[in-house]
Amino acid sequence: MSPTAELAVIGGSGLYALLDGATEHEVETPYGRPSDAITIAEVGGRRVAFLPRHGRDHRHPPHRIPYRANLWALRSLGVRQVLAPCAVGGLRPELGPGTFVVPDQLVDRTSGRTQTYYDQGAVHVSFADPYCPTGRRTLLDSAARHRVAAVDGGTVVVVEGPRFSTRAESRWFTAIGGAVVNMTGHPEAVLARELALCYSSIALVTDHDAGVAGGEAVTQEEVFRVFGENTDRLRGLLLAAVAALPADRDCDCGRALDGIKLPFPLP
Ligand code: ADE
Repeated sequence: MSPTAELAVIGGSGLYALLDGATEHEVETPYGRPSDAITIAEVGGRRVAFLPRHGRDHRHPPHRIPYRANLWALRSLGVRQVLAPCAVGGLRPELGPGTFVVPDQLVDRTSGRTQTYYDQGAVHVSFADPYCPTGRRTLLDSAARHRVAAVDGGTVVVVEGPRFSTRAESRWFTAIGGAVVNMTGHPEAVLARELALCYSSIALVTDHDAGVAGGEAVTQEEVFRVFGENTDRLRGLLLAAVAALPADRDCDCGRALDGIKLPFPLP
């Protein structure tokens, strides 16, 4: 029998495993292989898939992650809801290391990444609200129940990387309303929307981005160290959110492609 899952967590830097007692599955897609084998286990009565975005040995840098294969593979397993934790830099002094943010907007500053499945036909999805409202609410409620402070809302500026930003870029991102900055939030979010998946993110601040709060330049060592210090809190929060996410989708995410003629069927 083919493996199935209803919802998925795509783990970011430092979160390479999530589920106990999971089975492991290699999945092929028309876009190649996803970042790694997908593990599946039951959590709170629901079938949950876990995929480490960078691969479990962190072999895929942010600009080379097979984003299309990842979302396609999850949908082909039956996944319709995705929770996507990630590491971010804080763009405001009050958003320091260890803070959780559940973003409600993003600004795409990536370049050269393929950000659509639809190279033929007229498929234009709405992306005004990039994150699933139910997923966001569930993440915030789960954080509150776990006594983990999480900021409700904020704009993620997604940069191309793999370098960190200059001080001038960082100041500019703050000036345009950015709350946090990262390298992987896009095109993951829009590809999820193009497959009519619910997608929401929980961002862990690992550093103040260059020059914010008079700080030093960001280092990779700092990002990984702070993420590692918070992995247990994040894992607990995610497992609680997975169990609490309503199975019936009451949001518009599943209707993202209604009325649109698709050039090929979705898995
Ligand atoms: N991920 C974690 N911290 C970051 C930063 N400051 N800039 C971009 N991506 C990040």
